Amino acid sequence: MSSFFLTTAIDYVNSRPHLGTAYEKITADVIARYHRLKGDDTWFLMGNDEHSQNVFKRAQEQGKDPLAYCDEMEQVFREVWARLDVSFDDFIRTTDRKRHFPAVQRMAQVCQDNGDIYEGTYEGFYCVGCEEFKPEKDLVDGLCPIHKTRPEWIKEKNWFFRLSKYQQPLLKCYEAQPSFIEPEVRRNEILRFVEGGLDDLSMSRAGQSWGIPLPFDPKSVVYVWFDALINYAAAVGYGWDDALFKRRWPAHLHIVGKDITRFHCVIWPAMLMSAGLPLPGQVFGHGWVFFKGERMSKSLGNIVDPLDAAKRFGPDPLRLYLTKEVPYGGDGDFTWERFEEKYNADLANNLGNLVNRVAAMTERYRQGRLAARGGGSLAGVATDAVRTYADAMDRLALHEGVAAAYRLISAANEFIAETQPWSLAKDPAKADQLSSVLYDAAEAVRIAAVLLLPAMPSSAAEILRRMGEASAPGDLRFDTATAWRASGERGILNAGALWPRLEDKGAPVNEITTQPAPVNPDAPGASVAPAGTPAAAAPPTAPSSQPVGAPSVITIDDFMKVQLKVAKVLEASNVPKSKKLVQLKVDVGEAEPRTILAGIAESYQPEQLVGRTIVVVANLKPAKLMGIESNGMVLAASPEGGGALLLNAEPAAPGTRVR
Ligand code: MSP
Repeated sequence: MSSFFLTTAIDYVNSRPHLGTAYEKITADVIARYHRLKGDDTWFLMGNDEHSQNVFKRAQEQGKDPLAYCDEMEQVFREVWARLDVSFDDFIRTTDRKRHFPAVQRMAQVCQDNGDIYEGTYEGFYCVGCEEFKPEKDLVDGLCPIHKTRPEWIKEKNWFFRLSKYQQPLLKCYEAQPSFIEPEVRRNEILRFVEGGLDDLSMSRAGQSWGIPLPFDPKSVVYVWFDALINYAAAVGYGWDDALFKRRWPAHLHIVGKDITRFHCVIWPAMLMSAGLPLPGQVFGHGWVFFKGERMSKSLGNIVDPLDAAKRFGPDPLRLYLTKEVPYGGDGDFTWERFEEKYNADLANNLGNLVNRVAAMTERYRQGRLAARGGGSLAGVATDAVRTYADAMDRLALHEGVAAAYRLISAANEFIAETQPWSLAKDPAKADQLSSVLYDAAEAVRIAAVLLLPAMPSSAAEILRRMGEASAPGDLRFDTATAWRASGERGILNAGALWPRLEDKGAPVNEITTQPAPVNPDAPGASVAPAGTPAAAAPPTAPSSQPVGAPSVITIDDFMKVQLKVAKVLEASNVPKSKKLVQLKVDVGEAEPRTILAGIAESYQPEQLVGRTIVVVANLKPAKLMGIESNGMVLAASPEGGGALLLNAEPAAPGTRVR
């Protein structure tokens, strides 16, 4: 078993987590869960960065003792991470006196003992937003390019770390360990920066009490970044448990944002070199998540609270969106409209519909039990998807990994559309074929769910339960769980819609989460109007620009596109194995009578229908239901809680246009 020690940046606690900081934790969590699934001895560390001046100021503004303020914020952060299903193994705070203080003091002392720390005076700019000493050349029109504010001019006695001494050793390290900085764009940035020469770094602040005192000058505190970076070593024993440290260090992967890659790829390895410690395996600098194309910031008032996004549909759709829609390493964008669109497309219509169809058809045609079979074309698709997925996840191309899982899901949906299990079910000679089709689809869904476990832990676990997976998700191991199973029998559970389709952009949250979606295994993708006739699959409702609750308005031209016609019912019969459908033969004034299926069997007996004059939609795209092609739709009133009432067009002649 290999070990895998993974960290994220530790967050400043001057405000609650926003969608950008949550993005980092969620994607790191996907990586941690993937490694656990592979059976690696995984250790996932997160934490809070508390010795920042901004944190101190925020506490003062609230009239709180800074440590008491940080204690409160710890709870806020922990709650958000729990609600987003972020499964860290350890959480460190830089005010931790048992672990972090001794580690920082030890490293400062060792660097000093090794001659890498000297006393001097810093005179220059300091951006409190970045907590960074800013050389004038990094400013744009005198402002910090990130915070758009003028940095403070400070002059103080400081201790300096000999960063300049590590220019060549760092360049050698990047050369010897090419994957130390990923993705490539960050590697190139850092290479250019280090090749340009390094200035020594001020590693202490004078005249401040909020921080960790330097062991060799207790009146100065350690500069917040020198302090914060040490958290990764402090958490695993550095300075307080040498045996533990030896066992866990070095970290295999630091996940950080692109804005702080430089601290992790230049200062941190130089500090470790100075302290004589091994370097981490890799620093991955992910991109930024923007809101409607803009940087999220308090001053712009466009901060997205990740809990609002998780409340919309639960944490998993948010986790999927962030993993699938943002190429890992690049930037991405979040808008509520896009989030809802992707929810409908990826979850309600694609994966959710697939799970429902497989479970509902297995219940209907095989009493919910399936015996394993050899595996047809889908087995090959699954093998490819698993291979592509593992390759992508190992390269941290998380978006490609999830896309591979989705290719399997789409292939399973297409497979059902092509093999038409509902038609096979009608022919007893095709019973074997039907069993194979259902098993293959269920097995493909099961494998896709294993691939989605890291990104959508609870939904994927629920899908596995419905697909009859006997092992608990935590007991599954990637290689065995993603192999096509060719023996055994399993029970498939039909338990309703996982992700009801979102019909109205403005629908309130509770309406979305409590409304059950129609499940009709006979008409894949089609939602059956309660009293109408299922016909062509309804496309997802486009987001409307109308105010919430306003009835939608169409033009007369829109209405005239619908051809309503008078029709006379010539024949009527129940559709076998369907509780709702009646098959009608109607005269619409054309050369031949038409066949129309109507979902009115619960309201009318076939014999009550023959001879009636009704209204139908004559230009609806034909659709196949239960193997029968329906050519039109019957109009009926659908009273709340009551049965369908057919519209009576008597005494008009068949074919008369209704307007
Ligand atoms: N405290 C420092 C990190 C110290 S690590 C030894 C810090 N904190 S932060 O709270 O400002 O940011 C925490 C992480 O969130 C950073 O990796 C940062 O890049 C990331 N993000 C902040 N806003 C972000 C987005 N809008 N999008 C993606 N990640 C973003 O920096």
